[in-house]
Amino acid sequence: MGERSAEEGWGFETRAVHAGQPPDAATGAVVAPISLSTTFAQEAVGEHKGYEYARSGNPTRAALEACVASLEGATHGLAFASGLAAEDNVLRLLAPGDRILLGNDAYGGTYRLIARVFGPVGYPWSTVDLTDRTVEWPPDTRMVWLETPTNPLLTCIDIEAVATRAHELGALVVVDNTFATPYLQNPLVHGADIVVHSATKYLGGHSDVVGGFVALDDDNLAERIRFTQNAAGAVPSPFDCYLVQRGIKTLPLRMDRHCANARAVAEMLVEHPAVERTLWPGLDTHPGHDVAKRQMHDFGGMVSFVVRGGEERAVALVERTELFTLAESLGAVESLIEHPAHMTHASAAGSPLAVDPALVRLSVGIETAADLVADLQQALDSLT
Ligand SMILES: Cc1ncc(COP(=O)(O)O)c(C=O)c1O
Repeated sequence: MGERSAEEGWGFETRAVHAGQPPDAATGAVVAPISLSTTFAQEAVGEHKGYEYARSGNPTRAALEACVASLEGATHGLAFASGLAAEDNVLRLLAPGDRILLGNDAYGGTYRLIARVFGPVGYPWSTVDLTDRTVEWPPDTRMVWLETPTNPLLTCIDIEAVATRAHELGALVVVDNTFATPYLQNPLVHGADIVVHSATKYLGGHSDVVGGFVALDDDNLAERIRFTQNAAGAVPSPFDCYLVQRGIKTLPLRMDRHCANARAVAEMLVEHPAVERTLWPGLDTHPGHDVAKRQMHDFGGMVSFVVRGGEERAVALVERTELFTLAESLGAVESLIEHPAHMTHASAAGSPLAVDPALVRLSVGIETAADLVADLQQALDSLT
């Protein structure tokens, strides 16, 4: 299994609880205070304690930024108002004419941002199967954007192999680490330049906050992203930072349960006659199993499957579970079920990233495994 970074000499679980959040110097509070002040007193013009105006920086955000950077083994961490705001700020490192090469399976909103926001104003883009080492990459590629495991097909991309190729072209490698989380995978260790997260998912972990994150080592790139973070202002509120920080403290515990429950669910799906194909990187029949084993610590809590008989039956199924709630999003304590072609990936319809309408995606929560298996089983049985 892949290695986690061990910054500061502390283990991952210790950093999740303590990194960036020593007891408050003024009061001894063991929880980093939610600092709501929008402005900070200056002793003289330009002389202050590190904070001037809360969009540029505030203590609650700084605590979160230090913590996530530590978990990713990164020098720099930047928090944003959403995952897409984080992505937008990273894409702004490019200049018109620079090509974005996007893996051919990705969150529909990422595709929409690249194809419908950046594309029309002069940023060429293409999609490619990043598992295929024989396919040519356009020579004007300046940024390779990948998810691993991908949303929703759970394809696993060899980060090191992509980074080697991209760097030969002079392109940056951005890894969306939302599905794996820093607990299961640290892309910078494998040669990625920038990591992005939708903190709305496993980092927050409780379906009660929208947020995004960027982590990286390069000082110059970090300075440019921090400039845009302040200049364009897509920053999270202090309360949102607190919620993400609170969620992160239990990330390791939650992820262990997500992974174990996903295994139980996947093993049932593999055997069920109403299921044509089960996609979970932990199955040794999964094409990305070896890559996942090499670069991840465990296989994650997301499971997708193709329902035998096509779209109509897939749509019927997602309406028949009781514990799995029919809803978009993922990565929180409660289990969710969704139909990507109509829901999370509707914005990719008709594109190279369009999703099989017989596909169902599960975000397996931390409930009792047997209850989750029974719930899905009764819904699947009702189709046969
Ligand atoms: C893999 C992935 N990346 C990015 C995002 C976008 O994040 P947000 O919804 O926080 O803007 C999502 C949202 O579902 C996602 O699944």
